[in-house]
Amino acid sequence: MICVSHLSKRFAHNEVLKEINLNIGQGEVVAIIGPSGSGKSTLLRCLNLLEKPNTGIIRIGNVTLDSEHYSSKEESNLRRQSAMVFQHYNLFKNKTALENITYPLIAGQKMDKTEAKQRGLSLLERVGMLPYAKQYPVTLSGGQQQRVAIARALAVRPKVLLFDEPTSALDPERVHEVLQVMLQLAKEKITMVIVTHEMEFAKYVADRIIFMANGVIVEEGIAKSVINNPQHELTQRFLRQLTDEFDFEI
Ligand SMILES: Nc1ncnc2c1ncn2[C@@H]1O[C@H](COP(=O)(O)OP(=O)(O)OP(=O)(O)O)[C@@H](O)[C@H]1O
Ligand SMILES: [Mg+2]
Repeated sequence: MICVSHLSKRFAHNEVLKEINLNIGQGEVVAIIGPSGSGKSTLLRCLNLLEKPNTGIIRIGNVTLDSEHYSSKEESNLRRQSAMVFQHYNLFKNKTALENITYPLIAGQKMDKTEAKQRGLSLLERVGMLPYAKQYPVTLSGGQQQRVAIARALAVRPKVLLFDEPTSALDPERVHEVLQVMLQLAKEKITMVIVTHEMEFAKYVADRIIFMANGVIVEEGIAKSVINNPQHELTQRFLRQLTDEFDFEI
């Protein structure tokens, strides 16, 4: 479903992604973990061209793009293959939960209003947010807003969902409801790439874990084995630090 080869990205002289190669299958759930600044968000953002890679070829579904030469049509085709869920939800504040979902369909895809509304309502139901359809984001909790954001991402029927730390801005008691929705999507075999610090969730839901550091993929493998038995020293150190932080909180 996703095939990335030799993807590089630099900001001025800062080489943030170094020749990344990545293959993700249809229906696979992949979690990306790694220290702050390792390039996780940049990698996700490159996949839907929120950042322009310097080199590399990206294929999602049946759309391929060479990041060194592409047309605006190829760009919009590739963008349409994926949808992103952000840490801070990024909902339109002046639109209701339902309008947040229907607006991109009506304005972007020129969908008929009745059809957009039907799709919006059924997606709100899928994420348990139907009773809140007419509410504005400011009246919803973080977890509720994030569930609307997931429904909005699903509305365009992307081949791939990209999540950038979807639960890290939430109050701890709200994390569960968002993870629950993501778990459901994983069961439905939606291809997902999730940048997360939720190791237990990653272990439980992800088929594969990718550990990144300094702009490269250092280690990857079946989720349980990477977390329980990391091979690379950097992975071991990263996971140990997470455990230490956890102990500290207790
Ligand atoms: N728009 C930008 N302009 C300049 N530098 C950037 C930009 N975005 C990211 N960077 C730099 O790229 C590097 C990787 O950043 P990125 O946000 O991808 O890391 P990350 O792994 O997602 O970190 P975190 O866990 O803190 O979210 C960092 O050194 C960051 O400062
Ligand atoms: Mg990030």
